Amino acid sequence: MFNRNVLGVGASATIMVADKARELKEKGIDVISFALGEPDFDTPEIIKNYAKEALDKGFTKYTDLKGIKPLRDKICEKLKNDNNIDYSPDEIIVSNGAKHALFNALYALVNPGEEVIIITPAWVSYVEQVKLVGGIPINIDSNEDYSLPLDKIKKAINSNTKAIMINSPCNPTGSVYSEDELRKLAAIVLEHKDVYVISDEIYEKIIYLPNKHFSIASVSEGMKEKTIVINGFSKAYAMTGWRMGYSASSKEIAKLIARIQSHMTSCPNSISQYSCVRALDIDSKILDDMVVKFEKRKKIIFDWVKKHTDDIKVVEPQGAFYFFFDFSKFMGGKIKNSLDMSMYLLEKHNIALTAGSAFFKENFLRMSYAASEKNIIEGLNRLEKAIQELKK
Ligand SMILES: Cc1ncc(COP(=O)(O)O)c(C=O)c1O
Repeated sequence: MFNRNVLGVGASATIMVADKARELKEKGIDVISFALGEPDFDTPEIIKNYAKEALDKGFTKYTDLKGIKPLRDKICEKLKNDNNIDYSPDEIIVSNGAKHALFNALYALVNPGEEVIIITPAWVSYVEQVKLVGGIPINIDSNEDYSLPLDKIKKAINSNTKAIMINSPCNPTGSVYSEDELRKLAAIVLEHKDVYVISDEIYEKIIYLPNKHFSIASVSEGMKEKTIVINGFSKAYAMTGWRMGYSASSKEIAKLIARIQSHMTSCPNSISQYSCVRALDIDSKILDDMVVKFEKRKKIIFDWVKKHTDDIKVVEPQGAFYFFFDFSKFMGGKIKNSLDMSMYLLEKHNIALTAGSAFFKENFLRMSYAASEKNIIEGLNRLEKAIQELKK
């Protein structure tokens, strides 16, 4: 028998839809994809130039497995300036993307059979990663407006609970937790000696005013010790392929993560690390310009949804680059669930949206607006046609 933990893990549903969309495109069909979670912008030129410099300097060898010290120093500076948390470089471990950093965190914390609370709708990999490390995912639905279900969390915590995973701004809903609700969550966590928070803050920079990002680790020194902050460069810097993420935690946990990494991957990519030291110093306007573009697209879609509130419900996103549409009205007939709806939209109307089941929420679909305005407008026209057809 092969490893039960691995056998129990499903293939990523987000990738299934993307694969199907690719297959149709290869057949020459004009598919517009709103399925993938990566910025459509190219990595800023200045960051690419630093990678060329790294190559020219021969910065191509193994590095410190925790990540090069100048990068960990810069990350500490960033965490102080942006999040008001004091970390030292030995509390930072740079990994191959935030996904890798999340896995390391879970592997360091969770014993087989321990529970990890996940607030749903949630990014698909949380549940599967918990299963991979032998833990038990406990999914708790967020409130209807996607705020933290504090009472339900409080009730769910027991002597077998090891961690709570949170994600703000959230994939797939775009919701942002307020400072007030995060302080309330911290108060609950601090009542339990052995419960930790894994706070995935990868979309931190993609946030729309007046919303503000707040890190739960900044609540107090005690809360910092109980939190593993996960962040990275993929989304804010349009650097998905560079595979750069990191964790910030207590020294004790960082040591465990370093031990895991030393036997799994060694250091992250040297060239990417070299560039990321400088990326953290680039003119913030470069990042802000991307956010302005995302916000403009968000407005186009939200204005469209406002004209269709009889058919589609949505909570306006506050960050990230996703809409999470409630298509309940159309479920139950020939379309039974969100995967049916996703396949129908793809095959009949050539638009790819991700089924809500991938995020543990039936009857919903996620639309990523990391796509050009032109494609968004055309995509919405196609969605409009699909709705009219379904209503017949
Ligand atoms: C919520 C969330 N966390 C983490 C990641 C992983 O990011 P990275 O590319 O740094 O591994 C993603 C990517 O889609 C994500 O949506």
